[in-house]
Amino acid sequence: MSAAEAGDARGAHVAVEHVGRRHPPAVVALDDVSLTLEPGEFVALTGPSGSGKTTLLSLIGGLDRPSTGRILVDGAPLDGQGLARYHRETVGFVFQHHHLLAHLTARANVELPLIGAGMGAAPRRRRAEELLAEVGLSKRLTTRAAALSGGERQRVAVARALANEPRLLLADEPTGALDSTNSALVLDLLVDARERRGATLLVVTYDPLIAARADRVLHLRDGRLVDEPATALRAAAEQPQG
Ligand SMILES: Nc1ncnc2c1ncn2[C@@H]1O[C@H](COP(=O)(O)OP(=O)(O)OP(=O)(O)O)[C@@H](O)[C@H]1O
Ligand SMILES: [Mg+2]
Repeated sequence: MSAAEAGDARGAHVAVEHVGRRHPPAVVALDDVSLTLEPGEFVALTGPSGSGKTTLLSLIGGLDRPSTGRILVDGAPLDGQGLARYHRETVGFVFQHHHLLAHLTARANVELPLIGAGMGAAPRRRRAEELLAEVGLSKRLTTRAAALSGGERQRVAVARALANEPRLLLADEPTGALDSTNSALVLDLLVDARERRGATLLVVTYDPLIAARADRVLHLRDGRLVDEPATALRAAAEQPQG
């Protein structure tokens, strides 16, 4: 049973301590990054292309390992032993390009992490249908991912990321490939997940509307956290929102 099912819907606490990630021979993707995500906090992560955003998200998500430093989630270091469980029970991912299996239906895609968690067929199907209803796709349950629109696919991807009630939700430019209507929808789903489930939310984004809704915005440049955002994003974020 996951922590969320047990009634403990508190978001994860994440501590990144002096983390570096190098790719031999000479690429420094991240250089001595330290940060903390408080439980239930919504943090946006920005920075120019190549600044290390995806690298940092992958490390926090346990998809990659730091070259130096360490990452603690709820006080425990991410390491080989606990990773399978971490992926199954704690963390959910939304990628820029949905990463759905094209030949599977929307419902089957959402069921995948539930299979991983060992849920039986009938409850799994029910849960996937509930989640797809939440993202407004009740009419697309049996449509194959390949036949969905871009916005619909990304909503399926959000439903899939939420399937295991993750306490930490990581999204890498989740609205990067979407028009403004679908962007707003996907952002609402993420924010809603955070508000209803108490999840901690870390979103890589160039989108000033996302950054404006975050509790805090972090800026990466050349693999390091910096105080100042890129000028264009700052200017856009300062535009009054109608
Ligand atoms: N497997 C790898 N081998 C070598 N270099 C890599 C590898 N993965 C990432 N890099 C390099 O590390 C740096 C950071 O990459 P990363 O993907 O984290 O950037 P990003 O901020 O997500 O960029 P974008 O906004 O374009 O997605 C880049 O210079 C990239 O070329
Ligand atoms: Mg990236």
